[in-house]
Amino acid sequence: MKRRDFVKLSSLITAASLYPQNSDANIITLKKSFTKKLAIPSVAEYKEEDGIKVYDLSVQEGKMDFLNGAKTSTYGINGNFLGPTIRVKDRDRIRINVANNLKETTTMHWHGLRVKGSSDGGPHNIINPNETWSADINIDQKASMCWYHPHTIGKTGRQVFMGLAGLFLIDDDDTKNIDLPNTYGVDDIPLVLQDRRFDSHGEFLYKQNMMDEMMGVTGNIHLINGVIDPVVEVEPKAIRFRFLNGSNARIYNLMFEKQDKFFQVAGDSSLLPTPVKLSNFILAPGERAEIVVDFSKYAGKTLYFGDGIDKRILLKIVVKKSKPQPMKLPSKLITIDEYEGKKATNTREFRLNMSMGFLGINEKQMDMNRIDEKVKKNRFEIWRIVNHSPRPHPFHVHGTGFSIISRDGKKALINERGLKDTVLVYSRETVEILVRFKYEADVNTPYMYHCHILEHEDGGMMGQFTVKA
Ligand code: C2O
Ligand code: CU
Ligand code: CU
Repeated sequence: MKRRDFVKLSSLITAASLYPQNSDANIITLKKSFTKKLAIPSVAEYKEEDGIKVYDLSVQEGKMDFLNGAKTSTYGINGNFLGPTIRVKDRDRIRINVANNLKETTTMHWHGLRVKGSSDGGPHNIINPNETWSADINIDQKASMCWYHPHTIGKTGRQVFMGLAGLFLIDDDDTKNIDLPNTYGVDDIPLVLQDRRFDSHGEFLYKQNMMDEMMGVTGNIHLINGVIDPVVEVEPKAIRFRFLNGSNARIYNLMFEKQDKFFQVAGDSSLLPTPVKLSNFILAPGERAEIVVDFSKYAGKTLYFGDGIDKRILLKIVVKKSKPQPMKLPSKLITIDEYEGKKATNTREFRLNMSMGFLGINEKQMDMNRIDEKVKKNRFEIWRIVNHSPRPHPFHVHGTGFSIISRDGKKALINERGLKDTVLVYSRETVEILVRFKYEADVNTPYMYHCHILEHEDGGMMGQFTVKA
């Protein structure tokens, strides 16, 4: 491990030790058994109307049997927990109708998608109970895995915790011919990582106190695609795993139990220029990463994949005893030219504040009635994110994919050189990103920037900006 990476890792481990170990006696801890089959979210169906793909999402209450018998009250989209995977292609024209069948208001935000403010699903796109909101989107996006979740002011953390989140897969022509595993659910496997805690009745135990508010809500039970301690069976060949950190507050350091190597091929909003060989990577709330693992050498074996911060196994992988198919991974993936050689004409600073019960950005707490920044459309800007607080914060920006320029004046990490929409800013670190917005957002439906620890976002660590020509 390079020294720099080691520094990052150790600063995280200190940060992780700041997480309170929850001592509530009612929390059920399950024995690690890994017998439940990994669920794969279904792909959302659509109907075609005048060349537009129309999707219908119903946000609703549900019940889930997470704990072998106890029924947990949940929220889900077209189901009991989580939602279907929306799979589209660059240049598709789509409409998503979101029906709110809850007893409370919600919104639905397309995290990572470049859409105009009025379709972004931010806190101003309120959907009242028994109402339907429609988002019209012209997909303008590189192949990537984005996701969707509510963005209800002050309630995002709880609504996501209850189960509202889904994947948004984008394909494009550039990547069609790149030799990467792409059979959904078979050799191209989405993995939504989440953690939860339960009370003695088997109900979710969300925010309890000031500590949860400041540290974010973490749980002692780990779910992947809504399944506790799952097992997945794969062929002895190259397998692609697409990770979403869909947890409210937990940061993962993902790795195989025996530190087997793999290749990271994509980050949040695009493939990487080249595959990057790694034995672990950090994934903060809101971030995505795609890896390709060569299982051809493991026919008939069982491997475990987990989190080095919490020191927990998350997934058991059983490799079938069939004939191994060797992996061929291209050495080059894509060129990302959007920010290549572009000079920024403006710089903005965002100071992440977390001290003595105050969560904010630039010494201000989120206010729906205040526009914090006015940005010019299509202009390249440097956004400097400064974290003087004692813990890392994943900073997320709506309406764009950005490029990381530097971390404390040094180059971005090698697995961060694709397009990003969320960047983890470590304690005492300054990160600079090059950003630009191709679509408009007005005062009625401005874009957001915020910490993606959902309790921080709900607690005021968020700001609003407009984009105009
Ligand atoms: Cu994933 Cu503003 O959110
Ligand atoms: Cu977002
Ligand atoms: Cu934060």
